[in-house]
Amino acid sequence: MGRVFVAGSINMDVVATADRHPKVGETVAGKAVHYFPGGKGANQAVAAAKLGAATALVGRLGTDAFGQQLRTFLAAQGVDLALVKDTADAHTGTAVITIADADNTIVVVPGANALVSAEDVAAPALAKGDIAVSQFEIPQATIGAFFKRARAARATTILNPAPAVACAPGLLELVDILILNETELGLLAQTALHDTDEPARFIDAARRLPTGPDTIICVTLGKRGVLALIGGEPSLIAGRAVKTVDTTGAGDCFVGALAAQLANATPIRDALAYANAAASICVQRMGAAPSMPTTAEVDELLAKHA
Ligand code: RIB
Ligand code: NA
Repeated sequence: MGRVFVAGSINMDVVATADRHPKVGETVAGKAVHYFPGGKGANQAVAAAKLGAATALVGRLGTDAFGQQLRTFLAAQGVDLALVKDTADAHTGTAVITIADADNTIVVVPGANALVSAEDVAAPALAKGDIAVSQFEIPQATIGAFFKRARAARATTILNPAPAVACAPGLLELVDILILNETELGLLAQTALHDTDEPARFIDAARRLPTGPDTIICVTLGKRGVLALIGGEPSLIAGRAVKTVDTTGAGDCFVGALAAQLANATPIRDALAYANAAASICVQRMGAAPSMPTTAEVDELLAKHA
């Protein structure tokens, strides 16, 4: 069985819930405040670890209270933190999140995540069959160095280019599996997309991306499910109708679950269905990393609908 290595961000999510989002210049009364472990890298690592993969995180924390709390939490989830460094040069990554009506807005301040370096990602001992995962909350030059090493070791590379920012030239060519939502796809394909668009529009946009010829592209469409292009051929994995409480980290759950399945040598189509089911559990609970499901929970859901 392969191992999952996630090079990525670790954040404390400071979450306020309210009846509605404030407009610019407006103050609204909130209902509750939570401190949830988050950050796309940490969320994906927690999902992979809870779903049974030997998982290591490569990242950085500040030497502050949030950093200590996150280290304790992540260790308890079974994530290997030997390659997570403490740095006195920056604060721990922090995301300020407002949730109203199950929709969120997020301001993320990278802090220590911006210091994750090519040297940091040179540390993991990658091997054939391992899965190397990253996202856009650490520097793209670092991701490029990580994926070049992974390719050389014949590990599989997974990129989740989130949040939506422009991509460095050449990076997508190093990606075996690209997982993105419609906003990120629109930005990278330089075309305007809306979540209500016909699948054909997403397929056209995905085919225009400067990936390698064999890159598998997965467009996560929220309630509508996931559109996958495998060998250029599209297939739709239908979404599950569930009561959504908090979508924060749902994409991360999908990425981490897929990585864990692939580390276990599950065929890609089965792995996609599994990851889709895992994400449908995540959106029914508050918080990002704390809402990741266990193997037992996903198995139970899949058995119910088998
Ligand atoms: O993808 C969700 C994550 O994005 C949150 O946990 C928050 O930290 C932001 O980075
Ligand atoms: Na959640």
